[in-house]
Amino acid sequence: MRCRGHKGMIQMINVAVMGYGTVGSGVVELLHVNHDRIARSAGDSVRVKYILDVRDFEDSPYAGLFVKDFAVIENDPEVSVVVETIGGVGVAQEFTRRALAAGKSVVTSNKELVSEHGCELLKIAGEHNVCYLFEASVGGGVPILHPISACLAADDIDEIYGILNGTTNYILTNMFKNGATFDKALGEAQEKGYAERDPSADINGVDTCRKTCILADIAFGRNIAPKYVRTEGIANVSAIDVEHVSTAGASIKLIGRTVRMPDGTIASYTAPHVLTSENLLVNVEGVFNGIVVRGDATGETMFYGKGAGKLPTATAVIADIIETGKTIGTGAFLGWSEAGEEVIGDPDLLESRWYIRANMDFDEAAVRFGQITMLGCDENGAAFITGSMTGIRCAELLEDIEAITVYRVLE
Ligand code: HSE
Repeated sequence: MRCRGHKGMIQMINVAVMGYGTVGSGVVELLHVNHDRIARSAGDSVRVKYILDVRDFEDSPYAGLFVKDFAVIENDPEVSVVVETIGGVGVAQEFTRRALAAGKSVVTSNKELVSEHGCELLKIAGEHNVCYLFEASVGGGVPILHPISACLAADDIDEIYGILNGTTNYILTNMFKNGATFDKALGEAQEKGYAERDPSADINGVDTCRKTCILADIAFGRNIAPKYVRTEGIANVSAIDVEHVSTAGASIKLIGRTVRMPDGTIASYTAPHVLTSENLLVNVEGVFNGIVVRGDATGETMFYGKGAGKLPTATAVIADIIETGKTIGTGAFLGWSEAGEEVIGDPDLLESRWYIRANMDFDEAAVRFGQITMLGCDENGAAFITGSMTGIRCAELLEDIEAITVYRVLE
């Protein structure tokens, strides 16, 4: 509920922030620092009434706002928007359900919860005429979900692909540009607050997979569950591959991709790719994310900006707080329908060139693959780039070979 003054003027949007970690504390800070600008855009003053956290923050300037019992928020009719920055499923899911059922909009950066249970939570939100919004769950501070669902609403989207994880892009950039070791680059990303609490979700591609699913859900209107999405991370990207790929003037990026196939199924996957100098995303470096949306009307549209970090992500959360006030009661529908394995397409049917490092010499590579671009040799074999073919064909040609690295090339 919004508080109304004696002349019926709306005066205040009361917000509760659940989870005072990197993003939650960023939301509280930014609502304070940029209060007037946010109020102008929202049409109301936005005030943090409660902060929920199990920990004590006695020295915080906001110490008086902390509560430990979710029921305080749930039962306060003045709270109209709840920010969920707890993360994970468990408690975050339970509190989100209860907040929505209590008639409060919920905004979140929680990609795990949205990708796993977004369909159900959006349904609850619809039943109670409130919003469940999650712009911050993909791309950090990069506006992407709202542009897809609103600005590109007239575009029939065929494909979205992008660098969706700041931590891994920071690591890969440092390996390519500075010759940094994997561990050193990861340590720096953790220090800067980019990495997940458990950085394995970044490194093994799970974070990118979740974001890819959310993009697919929004773009194609069907629920693409993370369990159906093939996912490979960057743990095996080696200094030798970095060297070979660099000689081609190319780079290695962790890409999440979702494509509508000719039969209407949706092929989604996460994997390291070799990006040539022609690709729009090749210069997206460090913590930055880049996302390319391809549609029938607009062609290619690229989104670029800081994909992780306290204040960039908080910006997206606050945009959603403002959005709740503009959406409720309009009938605008954000969501997607339940779907199972029947909508899942096979990424191996997609054609591309391939970067291969395998236990063979260039002559044998040329016999098997036809025309190849040779990149270099080492004691384990040769590195080269093939012509265009499906993943199925590439796997057939490598069937009896020990292939050390196989990455799709994006031009
Ligand atoms: N760990 C995530 C990343 C945070 O590095 O991109 C933002 O979702």
